[in-house]
Amino acid sequence: MILRLTILPGDGIGPEVTEQAVLVLQAVADGFGHQLQLQRKLIGGAALTVANDPLPADTVQACLASSAVLLGAVGSPAFDHNPGHLRPEAGLLRIRRELGAYANLRPAVFFPALEDCSPLRAEIVRGTDIMIVRELLGGAYFGEPRAIEGAPGSRVAVNTMRYSESEIERIARVAFELAMKRRRKVLSVDKANVLECSRLWREVVTRVGKDYPEVKLGHQYVDSAAMLLVQRPTDFDVLLTENMFGDILSDQAGGVVGSLGLLASASVGGPVGLYEPVHGSAPDIAGKGIANPLGAILSVAMLLRHSFQLEAEAVCVEKAVSTVLSQGARTADLAGKTHVAISTAEMGRRVVEAVKAVGSGQAEKSA
Ligand code: IPM
Ligand code: MG
Repeated sequence: MILRLTILPGDGIGPEVTEQAVLVLQAVADGFGHQLQLQRKLIGGAALTVANDPLPADTVQACLASSAVLLGAVGSPAFDHNPGHLRPEAGLLRIRRELGAYANLRPAVFFPALEDCSPLRAEIVRGTDIMIVRELLGGAYFGEPRAIEGAPGSRVAVNTMRYSESEIERIARVAFELAMKRRRKVLSVDKANVLECSRLWREVVTRVGKDYPEVKLGHQYVDSAAMLLVQRPTDFDVLLTENMFGDILSDQAGGVVGSLGLLASASVGGPVGLYEPVHGSAPDIAGKGIANPLGAILSVAMLLRHSFQLEAEAVCVEKAVSTVLSQGARTADLAGKTHVAISTAEMGRRVVEAVKAVGSGQAEKSA
């Protein structure tokens, strides 16, 4: 198969982790006989610096002409005082919208090798396997009007949280379909005791749930869900929620399983899937070669699975990651007091080696 991808390294640690993810992808492609066609384009602060636009038109064109997009991270303190549309994050929000990527899948899986990394006791976190389904194109992130208005000293800021029935219905279907292939549980998270958006959300999700009688549907207010996520993370299967709640809860889930640096994501629903680690650009550690590339590498697994239906290849990457973690490989975020931290590049190299070993193991099996 020919895999035509656009790579958007972005800002901060984005380029470092993406580089390792691409090396892993190359190893998988070699092992399974696929051909990679990659083009790299600018987004975020990197694009602002060159083109004064966080999402240049040629980046959008390249993404739309690809079969999938792999993104590192966007965000840089250099642009903190820019107006909203000239911030790096605006580039990310726009590419999500251009690609029609309304469904953001964020798995939070606990690796048994990382018992010492979670702040939670092992008996609480062991077995955690959550699929966060975050609505990605609605809510306060995109609602109009939005503005800061008025004279200095008496300014007023406005954001609009907005959801249509059809937006809620399509993301709910994604969650129920995923649940059917998992443990058949959906927990829909909202704030229906306060927000109209959430009341409509709950009503529509309940209605869609009737089409999936085998799936057990629950509803939880977001504050209470945040508490349950640390108290009983193994109770969660599919967690369905709106854009901003999903942003917050997915970082929390990263903390639960040991490090945000481990979390991958797929932003799908449109013609071209977008794959990005859940972590940000982490400007404080950028350029030091210490960032954890596993979130980006696991995003490659999601890309293979969701954009190319290459399940064996996806599993190969996931197994490779699990193998290197069991062998004690730890970047700084995971090292704690018990392990010596390895660099971003060394972690990438070990995953590549493990991919090759898994790949050749499979060749032996089929021989
Ligand atoms: C994420 C990030 C983004 C978001 C930022 C960088 C705009 O936090 O993907 O979780 O809020 O969606
Ligand atoms: Mg976030």
